[in-house]
Amino acid sequence: MSEAADQIFATLKQSAQSGAPLYLQLRKSIEDAVNRGLIGPGDALPSERDIASKADISRVTVRKAVQDLVKGGILVQRHGSGTFVAPRMERVEQSLSRLTSFTEDMARRGMAVRSAWLDRGLYAPSPDEMMVLGLSSNELVARVARLRIANDTPLAIERAALSASVLPDPAAIGSSLYAALETTGHRPVRAVQRISAANLGDDDARLLEVPPGIAGLHIERISYLASGKVIEFTRSIYRGDAYDFVAELRLSGPGEEGRP
Ligand code: GLP
Repeated sequence: MSEAADQIFATLKQSAQSGAPLYLQLRKSIEDAVNRGLIGPGDALPSERDIASKADISRVTVRKAVQDLVKGGILVQRHGSGTFVAPRMERVEQSLSRLTSFTEDMARRGMAVRSAWLDRGLYAPSPDEMMVLGLSSNELVARVARLRIANDTPLAIERAALSASVLPDPAAIGSSLYAALETTGHRPVRAVQRISAANLGDDDARLLEVPPGIAGLHIERISYLASGKVIEFTRSIYRGDAYDFVAELRLSGPGEEGRP
């Protein structure tokens, strides 16, 4: 690390004439060192005092640069042990044309999948759930909320709602919701998915082990049975640094809607 640290400060000296504020120059030097692999995931950064004396800048400047990089997810701080380069996220590429489950997606990539339960039970439905699932106020909704974890990295928080008539015992679903629905003939065959950008709030960020405020994806899936009945209403928060959603686009054929 000390050799790499020397390189960080050498880069810093080179860019010292650029006129940008010092903390931005230091931030960029550390970021470059990470991107060029001079310091890798899990490597410790020298102490604030060492960086300050080596680069001949104030500790306040060092702190500001480091805090920015922690906020951006490039560095992580562990209380009592110091500052480290954040573990690199293996990005997951997810097709937008196939209706698959989280368990199937991860298994296809050879990733070990597990979930931590956040909630599972029967509740009086919210107005949203009543509208989407077509429930009346005297029916119950089954809620299944899970932290989805692949290869020990938390990737998403998923909150699914289904009619209690379809899932009377949410505690009994095992590790895959779709596998449980399959056994009762309720596995969806079609879904509409809406993806939007979201900055992670404190609670979600803590569960996903990322700094609060970092970019994430809010995904809403409404799935249907072959009969056209809505079976699932799921709202999820995915880590923005972990997922790429990929859609294949084709020029429409003659007579098809949307032809330019
Ligand atoms: C995906 C979807 C969810 C769906 C889930 C089922 O992650 N975004 O809408 O509920 O898969 O996954 P599993 O069968 O692994 O529980």
